[in-house]
Amino acid sequence: MTANAVITGWGMYAPKRVMTNDELATMVDTSDEWIQTRTGIRERRIAGPDETTTTLSVNAARDALAVAGLDPSELDLVIVATCSPDYPLPATAVLVATELGATRAAGFDLQAACSGFLYALAAGTGFIRGGMYRNVLVIGVEILSRFINWRDRSTCVLFGDGAGAVLLSASEQPGGLLGWELFSDGAGCNAIIVPGGGTAHPASAETVAKEMHYIQMLGSEVYKYATRQLADSGLAALANAGLTADDIDQFVFHQANLRIIRSVEKALGIPEEKVFVNIEKYGNTSAASVPMALVEAIAEGKIQQGDKLLMVAFGAGYTAGAAVVEWTSDPSRAFLAPGDQTRLGRPRVGEPELAPVG
Ligand code: ACO
Repeated sequence: MTANAVITGWGMYAPKRVMTNDELATMVDTSDEWIQTRTGIRERRIAGPDETTTTLSVNAARDALAVAGLDPSELDLVIVATCSPDYPLPATAVLVATELGATRAAGFDLQAACSGFLYALAAGTGFIRGGMYRNVLVIGVEILSRFINWRDRSTCVLFGDGAGAVLLSASEQPGGLLGWELFSDGAGCNAIIVPGGGTAHPASAETVAKEMHYIQMLGSEVYKYATRQLADSGLAALANAGLTADDIDQFVFHQANLRIIRSVEKALGIPEEKVFVNIEKYGNTSAASVPMALVEAIAEGKIQQGDKLLMVAFGAGYTAGAAVVEWTSDPSRAFLAPGDQTRLGRPRVGEPELAPVG
């Protein structure tokens, strides 16, 4: 009999350094009022100088493994969804697997920008349902602060750093991924882009002088496309699952902009109270956004066994991903996580470090 794949572990990690809107207003011509009313963001987390995409991933992954009660040596595959890897090569997933002690796991990175986690969730599910693997760790992680031009107010106010992870395990029980939609459209290439450092414009003194190693974004174009595509992909995943929005208990959307989330709610005709929002604390953490929101929604008691979730993300490419998931695990297992963010859904609040960013 073909095995099903269900989520048995989950975890998150957000760096302790908090950057508020007021702090940003000392760096660029912006204000707390502008950022909050246009995006819903109050603050974001910024990775410390000793943190990398690997270290953030490992923190979230350790929580996910502890919640599932799985030894790292039992992992078959680690997928790291990120557009901010430690290096162009090797893959961050390989470094994460080694650091975890996942001695027999394969590892690869997956790049679908902010939609990466949902692409990876679908891929991991496919590996298990296809019979190739039994335990797949799926991580969404970013340190976009290292790709931001801290003099560009149109982008630097939006992004933050963090990681979220889920463990997918083979199971005979029903549930897990009930429906999905993965979308891409290269027409969006120039709308969100890091133009330098790849084969089109290899890194050189000139690409650095022209600041081509930073994220560039046409915000209002992305806004319009994202609003439409998030709703379309969500509806396509629901149709794929044979469900409607009324069947969904909790919606977990990519946290890019609160106004985008509210307009998707309207398009799908869903009540605000069923939509989890934590953008005010973290900003847009790209591939980490959906798994971090999922972990906090569980910690806040918003997801129970048997609930159906709709997760939808949109990002550079353009890409979009949507997944309808039936939740099968006991939410109280979160208390087995070593990290307090996974257990309580509350960020680790430390003294903000005063080291300048960028
Ligand atoms: N502070 C103050 N003013 C600002 C700021 C700022 N931080 N940024 C832009 N402005 C100004 C602009 O210069 C413009 O001024 P002007 O009218 O004098 O020219 C004005 O504010 C309005 O700018 P808009 O770009 O029209 O503002 P908008 O309401 O569209 O909000 C935003 C901008 C928040 C970026 C929005 O367009 C957005 O959220 N876009 C989507 C981003 C997104 O979803 N990205 C997801 C993918 S990211 C990934 O995949 C990695």
